[in-house]
Amino acid sequence: MKKRTWILALLLMNICSIAFAEEIKTLRVLVAGGAGFLGSHMCDRLIQEGYEVICLDNLQTGSRANVEHLMHHPRFVFMEHDVVNPLDLEVEEIYNFACPASPPHYQADPIKTLKTSVLGALNLLELAKKYQAKIFQASTSEVYGDPLEHPQTESYWGHVNPTGIRACYDEGKRAAETLFFDYHRMHGVNIKVARIFNTYGPRMNPNDGRVVSNFIVQALSGRSITVYGTGEQTRSFCYVSDLIEGIYRLMHSPDTLTGPVNLGNSSEFTLLQLAERVLDLTNATSSLVFEPLPQDDPKQRRPNLDLAKRALDWTPKVNLEEGLKMTIIYFKEHKKTAL
Ligand SMILES: NC(=O)c1ccc[n+]([C@@H]2O[C@H](COP(=O)([O-])OP(=O)(O)OC[C@H]3O[C@@H](n4cnc5c(N)ncnc54)[C@H](O)[C@@H]3O)[C@@H](O)[C@H]2O)c1
Repeated sequence: MKKRTWILALLLMNICSIAFAEEIKTLRVLVAGGAGFLGSHMCDRLIQEGYEVICLDNLQTGSRANVEHLMHHPRFVFMEHDVVNPLDLEVEEIYNFACPASPPHYQADPIKTLKTSVLGALNLLELAKKYQAKIFQASTSEVYGDPLEHPQTESYWGHVNPTGIRACYDEGKRAAETLFFDYHRMHGVNIKVARIFNTYGPRMNPNDGRVVSNFIVQALSGRSITVYGTGEQTRSFCYVSDLIEGIYRLMHSPDTLTGPVNLGNSSEFTLLQLAERVLDLTNATSSLVFEPLPQDDPKQRRPNLDLAKRALDWTPKVNLEEGLKMTIIYFKEHKKTAL
């Protein structure tokens, strides 16, 4: 959308807000990275809950297609913008999802990734400070690095290589968390930080190199399934609807709950087990090919979810088999060209 068009759209939103202000107070929310996998599901949820949503994205890894169904909604505006550059929008809540999340994408331009994490967080925190907006940060289990504590609790400080090829993302997200807590301590900004563990589901980019989408796309296209290392390394996989529910509850929890709060699914699988499930559910006969483990790849990951259960009364509901089935249906229906 051209700059003039979204300014007009915002004006229209303003007029509508004033007109209906007497009846109901509609909160205006900014979703940065809103055209990505998680951001677009968050936009759906917020629209469903009655918010006005400004979806901001530079389309680096996200796509308009993810929010196409919302483009004509009267409470939705799409704005093409890079969070590395300052912005001024009067909003009541901010969700920061803006950052490429898959290793091939965030490693393609590591300096840009670090800028997005740090300058993006800084610009959005300035906005939160200016308009007293509540702000959510999509942090990550990657802040724990290759963990020496298992499962990982929020009090674990992590084991991150600061100079390795994953550092642009891991250290960027750690620095962003630091900024969030310093804005909270110095300026009283109302922050909500979640550490998200591996999440999958419809609207994942089929080419972004994450393990669930990789395995499904390879199986559906009859290609061999690429397993890095021996495949004995473990991950826990959370279905997207569970994660969005957790984030929504965190955003609506008492102000004293700043986080960080782990969100994910604590059922742990080896990558070989994941490959077997995908082969079963797709009826594929693909063989497995083994390739060397990428540098600094964590050997195991599993969240301790006690805090989320206790403070948010939240626990994930969708098991791996159900979640994989829904994701496979999506890839079959929507991503034929990628197969
Ligand atoms: N999906 C997961 O398993 C997972 C796990 C941990 C953390 N996260 C975090 O959640 C967020 C969303 O992840 P995702 O899986 O939806 O990835 P994604 O790549 O689909 O979404 C990221 C979105 O941010 C946009 N973006 C990137 N750089 C930007 C910039 N400079 N300015 C504006 N927009 C920008 C992209 O175009 C994309 O739409 C990321 O911050 C990621 O670090 C995701």
